[in-house]
Amino acid sequence: MSNHLSVEPVGTHVGATIHGVDLAAPTAGDIAAIRQALYDHGVVFFRGQTLTPDQHIAFAERFAPVDITRFFSAVPTHPQIAEVRKEPEQKRNIGGGWHTDHSYDVAPAMGSILVARETPPLGGDTLFASMAAAFAALSPGLQATLRGMRAVHSNRHTFGAKARQLQDGDMAGRLRNPELATNDAVHPVVVRHPGTGKPMLYVNPGFTTQFEGWTEDESKPLLDYLYRHASRPEFQCRFQWQPGSVAFWDNRATWHYAANDYAGERRLMHRVTVAGEPLAAAAG
Ligand code: SIN
Repeated sequence: MSNHLSVEPVGTHVGATIHGVDLAAPTAGDIAAIRQALYDHGVVFFRGQTLTPDQHIAFAERFAPVDITRFFSAVPTHPQIAEVRKEPEQKRNIGGGWHTDHSYDVAPAMGSILVARETPPLGGDTLFASMAAAFAALSPGLQATLRGMRAVHSNRHTFGAKARQLQDGDMAGRLRNPELATNDAVHPVVVRHPGTGKPMLYVNPGFTTQFEGWTEDESKPLLDYLYRHASRPEFQCRFQWQPGSVAFWDNRATWHYAANDYAGERRLMHRVTVAGEPLAAAAG
């Protein structure tokens, strides 16, 4: 294990800053310690990193192969890196609602590694919420009901040709491939985290459309309840970016939300998403 790295929690349930590591040249011990901290805290933060795009990809590949985000524009020289960009004149941001990346895939991405390249002077924070804490705080009765359920996740309404966010042209040049947004996946509502075995609530406002075997109308009241519950501030932490900051989150364990409060300023982030596996239901 690494003997120079330290982990400082930033929230009760989610988030920790890792000090004393250079992500451009991590040792095997560093990688093991980062993985453990990710499992313990759901999202880990690093400051003052100087990762080139190649080093960003190489760091991600120490965990799993890159799972290319097919709906975001990519860095022209590095198709593995998705650009999360908002120009001063643009109104909408990418990720401006609670979600978990790629939950519409049969094997959802394990994690996402976001590197800040340009940040606004103020605002543009990212919020994270713990899905382990959200699940643990539900009543035993609702927990037992949810453990027996599965839910449908889709990318059609967010990235497909008819997606509302694509209609006004504000996203032009930032999102791509609407014709590929045709797939749905069904996952347990309570998944067993592949690394820790802990139960995690696995529905999210960005991509979950309904419970399996239920209509959208029937699903909405219970989904809305779960979304209100899981987005309680008690389960959250908030990260303020500077150029060179890095966040690495576990998509099975957290939701995230990119705050859109920096009108007239540019924000440019590079995201590499790493592959995951099909998710199993948490044992009862
Ligand atoms: C995302 O949803 O992946 C983007 C998060 C951010 O820009 O803070």
